[in-house]
Amino acid sequence: MPECRIVLRNCGIVDPASIESYRAHGGFQALRKAKQLTPDQVVQEVKRSGLRGRGGAGFPTGMKWELAARSPGEAHYVICNADEGEVGTFKDRYILQNDPYGLFEGIAIACHAIGARTAYLYLRAEYHHLLGQLLRALKETGDAELGCHIEVREGAGAYVCGEESALMESIEGKRGEARYRPPFPPNHGLWQEPTVINNVETLMNIVPIIQNGADWYKTIGSGPCPGTKAFSVTGDVERPGVYEVPFGTALAELVVDLAGAVNVKAVQVGGASGRVVPAAKLDTPLTFETVLGAGAVVVLDASRSMVELATQNVTFFAEESCGKCVPCREGNQILLHLLTTLQQRSGKEQDIDALRELSEVMMISCLCGLGQAAPNSVVDTLEHFGDEYYSMVRR
Ligand SMILES: Cc1cc2nc3c(=O)[nH]c(=O)nc-3n(C[C@H](O)[C@H](O)[C@H](O)COP(=O)(O)O)c2cc1C
Ligand code: SF4
Repeated sequence: MPECRIVLRNCGIVDPASIESYRAHGGFQALRKAKQLTPDQVVQEVKRSGLRGRGGAGFPTGMKWELAARSPGEAHYVICNADEGEVGTFKDRYILQNDPYGLFEGIAIACHAIGARTAYLYLRAEYHHLLGQLLRALKETGDAELGCHIEVREGAGAYVCGEESALMESIEGKRGEARYRPPFPPNHGLWQEPTVINNVETLMNIVPIIQNGADWYKTIGSGPCPGTKAFSVTGDVERPGVYEVPFGTALAELVVDLAGAVNVKAVQVGGASGRVVPAAKLDTPLTFETVLGAGAVVVLDASRSMVELATQNVTFFAEESCGKCVPCREGNQILLHLLTTLQQRSGKEQDIDALRELSEVMMISCLCGLGQAAPNSVVDTLEHFGDEYYSMVRR
């Protein structure tokens, strides 16, 4: 596999505690270059690169920036989403720890592109130990060098606060609950002003795109998904860690060749809300069109129960549901009850039918992505490992 480091390019090379070290490796050159361009030229370059958001949905970044830049408002805002609450994800933490200046530079270019003077870095509550390092690095850099002010806000400790509208509620000092949409953040975001919200990894792609150009960027990856993707690989593997590979790489290359998985039964791609891929489909290419989500990859070997996997995931969502809408608030509790009944060998075949039907209802009727994606692992394990469910039915 070709060595391909775009977002992790500085990790292990630049001293994350030294701005001089960052400067010595070409730091802030891309920002200076961006400032010589008009904001719209920067937006168009990002648009042409085909960069897609790494927070899970793969939305085109340039399009998001263009919408916000053209939206009228008293102020424009950029938010860097570093909430990283998805189960099994730690690639954003790795970036924050190893290349904070690269992230600030990407945020500053985003601010220049959409006309924002203030940006927020929303830091996962459990990453409190990184706060001091980030604040020191920000102080060292200074607003004058960045051309904007970056404020770090600590998260509220809830998974739903990673969802963009709940995150903005949280920054505004309210309870973290999803908003009804439309309107969307590029039109009415933080304090109802035009706002761009991007994942940490998305913003890490900006510096190399501005430095090397959109044409260079498009030579990496696969057609509709240019560039690379960083994955946090855990579970039954010999070498857990953060790996960066070009889009389109086969799942087997990531989990078997790089991370050293053996005896694979299934892989969950995208965290607790991600899809479950059976071993027979390990040749699946990693793109947004196939299985990609937030970047968490959890490998399960032959010793693992798929009903147990689904139960663990649903337990997480039942606890993290914000409770605003009924299909998620009640649906997750009922899914959990049905799964637990099966695990206790007191369930019936009708309970398996109910799992299927309820999952379908939740996927189309929940207000935000938390509830819509909560049944994913139930649906996938029922499809690929249905026998395990039926073997638990009370005879
Ligand atoms: C329940 C839930 C949790 C989310 N958590 C995160 C998160 O921790 N980090 C993140 O970047 N995006 C998260 N997202 C996606 C964000 O809503 C949003 O789409 C993303 O930050 C946009 O950035 P991008 O365009 O760079 O992907 C979450 C979405 C949902 C529904
Ligand atoms: S889907 Fe769940 S987390 Fe999202 S708004 Fe509804 S109750 Fe809250």
